[in-house]
Amino acid sequence: MQKFATFLLFLAVWTSGHGQDTPFLNGTFPPGFLWGVATSSYQIEGGWDQDGKGPNVWDTWTHDSTCSNVQDCSNGDVACDSYNRIMQDIAILKEMNVDFYRFSIAWSRIIPNGGIDEPVNPAGIRYYRHLINALLGNGIKPFVTMFHWDTPQAIEDAGGWPTEATAQAFARYARVLYAELGDLVKDWITFNEPWVICVLGYGTGVNAPGRTEMAETVYQCGHTIIKAHGLAYRIYETEFKDQQQGQVGITLNTDWNEPDVDDAEHRDASDRGLRFSFGWFAHPLYFGEYPPIMRELVDQKSINEGRNSSRLPSFDLLWTEIINGTLDFIGLNTYTTQLVRPVNGDGNPGLFGDSNVAGRQDPAWESSAASWLKVVPWGLNKLVRWIYAEYNQPPIYVTENGFADPQNATVNDPRRVNYYQQYINELMKATLDGVDVKAYTAWSLMDNMEWSAGYTQRFGIHHVNFSDPSLTRVPKMSAICLTQIFSDNGFPNGPPCNIN
Ligand SMILES: *[C@@H]1O[C@H](CO)[C@@H](O)[C@H](O)[C@H]1NC(C)=O
Ligand SMILES: *[C@@H]1O[C@H](CO)[C@@H](O)[C@H](O)[C@H]1NC(C)=O
Ligand SMILES: *[C@@H]1O[C@H](CO)[C@@H](O)[C@H](O)[C@H]1NC(C)=O
Ligand SMILES: *[C@@H]1O[C@H](CO)[C@@H](O)[C@H](O)[C@H]1NC(C)=O
Ligand SMILES: *[C@@H]1O[C@H](CO)[C@@H](O)[C@H](O)[C@H]1NC(C)=O
Repeated sequence: MQKFATFLLFLAVWTSGHGQDTPFLNGTFPPGFLWGVATSSYQIEGGWDQDGKGPNVWDTWTHDSTCSNVQDCSNGDVACDSYNRIMQDIAILKEMNVDFYRFSIAWSRIIPNGGIDEPVNPAGIRYYRHLINALLGNGIKPFVTMFHWDTPQAIEDAGGWPTEATAQAFARYARVLYAELGDLVKDWITFNEPWVICVLGYGTGVNAPGRTEMAETVYQCGHTIIKAHGLAYRIYETEFKDQQQGQVGITLNTDWNEPDVDDAEHRDASDRGLRFSFGWFAHPLYFGEYPPIMRELVDQKSINEGRNSSRLPSFDLLWTEIINGTLDFIGLNTYTTQLVRPVNGDGNPGLFGDSNVAGRQDPAWESSAASWLKVVPWGLNKLVRWIYAEYNQPPIYVTENGFADPQNATVNDPRRVNYYQQYINELMKATLDGVDVKAYTAWSLMDNMEWSAGYTQRFGIHHVNFSDPSLTRVPKMSAICLTQIFSDNGFPNGPPCNIN
């Protein structure tokens, strides 16, 4: 308790100034800190119809004949062909000497039609057991995401994430994974970035399945995902945990929200913005209900709009008990920062208007090949402190962080090297002040299919030439630099890679 009070005091002092980089700090992370890299199934596997895999929403989205969904009219039919190149991926992981590899499982390889009574596909199980055994044989822990956006098409056709039955289908899928792979896997992430699944998939329509129903459907999608996570957590807890001794968490994404002006209203806007993004999912899973400010604002706006019920659904008593306290750890994906200010969002029903927060990015911040991704290292430092204070000091795993280069970029990637050195150093500063961060994960192991941006953006620390049939993975400067940081557990001798 004493420690917590001191921490809050420190946090208050810390957030009273404007964000800025403080000098690079020589030092190391706490002993036992874990280092890894990440990918996801649709973005790397290819083999889209191999060995009985069912179609998913990204297959449908990218195969659209008008080519209007993906920037370069590409798809993930082959991608990095990891479905057929396990040993190539293992080789680069081993070369980097990572502690763990975060990858995701394609639901429609395991259960091709997704549904609760649909058959399991043994070839899908075999593929992932092969991959996991190869990892373990090389001393690499599998850190497994159950769902990274590739909804089986049959599940989407039955209503997708806004439909409550999808929670039951996911729970059954989770049970199959624990039963078939839980002897080997000890770290499970149920969902990757529910915010993106719901907002981009069902609100703005930028991602598959491309629905544009911001006002209510986005919240219904979130509601189902929270229930699905709760069910998957309880199944592990009651049926598998005693024997398998693993842990179950979720990965949430948010930008850090920096008050645009240093006053009370802007600091409130910062908290409110984070509670509407990260808190939308974290608060129910830690505390059994939506963040009070979210409840209050959406309920009031719904009444003002003349509705007879809130656009934000509620959990009844039974569901509250199922979801409350269902995170063994919290995964954080973060890349950048917003400068936020209070606004009146009435007249814009949906997540963005409801929060009464607007954001902008400083034009002076270094840019990347992704328009949304500006380089703001201190944002990571402030964000993990905020999460640690907001949710009673949970263990935090940084499950994604990285930088985008353009399509024509080579293995010479000084700006990515710079990004990693600075962001990881800012994370280290937070851990040295006592924030319980357990792991850092670089996104991504290799260049891959960047969703609706196709192959126009490269997030990899290994270069992949997608026109070369051998799809050789070649280490970039950043892979070599990260290998050094990982092996040093930080920066005992300053930044290892001098890029100037
Ligand atoms: C969630 O669980 C905690 C701890 O048992 C309890 O204090 C809290 O009231 C629960 N939340 C809800 C909304 O019931
Ligand atoms: C509430 O409104 C919805 C849609 O406007 C309508 O379908 C429903 O019947 C109403 N429910 C009640 C209880 O009035
Ligand atoms: C990539 O293309 C951009 C814009 O056309 C150009 O400015 C840049 O020099 C190119 N980079 C490489 C490595 O060829
Ligand atoms: C990619 O591979 C193609 C086909 O082998 C080759 O022609 C091209 O030069 C390669 N590009 C790069 C940047 O290495
Ligand atoms: C960090 O380490 C480097 C290399 O050992 C050294 O040159 C530098 O002075 C150190 N910085 C500080 C602030 O001690």
